[in-house]
Amino acid sequence: METPLDLVMDRLRCPVCTETLTRTERTVRCAAGHAFDIARQGYLTLLGGARPAVQGDTADMVAARTAFLAAGHYEPVARALAEAVRDVPAADDADHPLVLDLAGGTGYYLATVLDALPRALGVDVEISPYASRRAARAHPRLAAVRADVWQPLPLAAGSAAAVLSVFGPRNPAEIARVLTPGGRLVVVAPAQDHLAEIIGPLGMLTVAPDKEARLARQLADFTTTAERAVRYRATLTHADVVHEALMGPSAHHLDRDELLAAVAALPEPLAVTVSVTVSVHRA
Ligand SMILES: C[S@@+](CC[C@H](N)C(=O)[O-])C[C@H]1O[C@@H](n2cnc3c(N)ncnc32)[C@H](O)[C@@H]1O
Repeated sequence: METPLDLVMDRLRCPVCTETLTRTERTVRCAAGHAFDIARQGYLTLLGGARPAVQGDTADMVAARTAFLAAGHYEPVARALAEAVRDVPAADDADHPLVLDLAGGTGYYLATVLDALPRALGVDVEISPYASRRAARAHPRLAAVRADVWQPLPLAAGSAAAVLSVFGPRNPAEIARVLTPGGRLVVVAPAQDHLAEIIGPLGMLTVAPDKEARLARQLADFTTTAERAVRYRATLTHADVVHEALMGPSAHHLDRDELLAAVAALPEPLAVTVSVTVSVHRA
């Protein structure tokens, strides 16, 4: 039976020489002989020579993210993404448009998008092996590729009908290269009041005041075609709040015992504002 990786192999490229790739059992090779392993857990590592400058999320962060997303609190965000790509453009591979999720984590959002697009294929590009392991099991049409979004993406030019970028790093030049003509980039970014009820009390990292301006500068060569605020209240248990705090960059500087004490002092359940901007851009 074809695996999700087999389904997208013709769109993937060697990260060393950009040649096409062929699979034999658990190894993927290009014509020049560069070889890459498919992990036992099902993800393909496509890193070039240099060691990646970042390691990505730790096992604990990925476990916290998995638990938090499984509780469904960000489902409206996932639905907004699916809505933003529901009419992905026709292209050479119109029968099987490819949706790429950059720094896609556990594949949670991409799986929802693929459910809404029955003919589409998905690739989750992630640097954290712990996230890639989860992504490899997220959906029957989702291939997990371990790669660095700051390096040239191991994908053919014009191969993706849509690129998703949800709370993660993005490289505009590479996004423009891999998009099909008329393809779209969908970005989810936190608004200033995102999680306001817990950011202060728990000492979590705040959303940078110039975040919106920075995104606009970063995507200056793209045309923004739609922008939508997704804002609602989520009702969280103490366990949800701990997972939320430990699944993102705040995890690197929070002391676990202090965090647990601060969470215990909060009401339970706790109503929290989820507030993000979903924007659509064309190259
Ligand atoms: C805040 S998380 C968002 C994950 C996912 N988009 C979600 O919202 O569930 C950021 C993700 O970016 C990944 N990441 C960080 N630097 C990266 C890089 N250079 N290349 C690929 N992934 C990276 C991390 O491992 C982490 O999974």
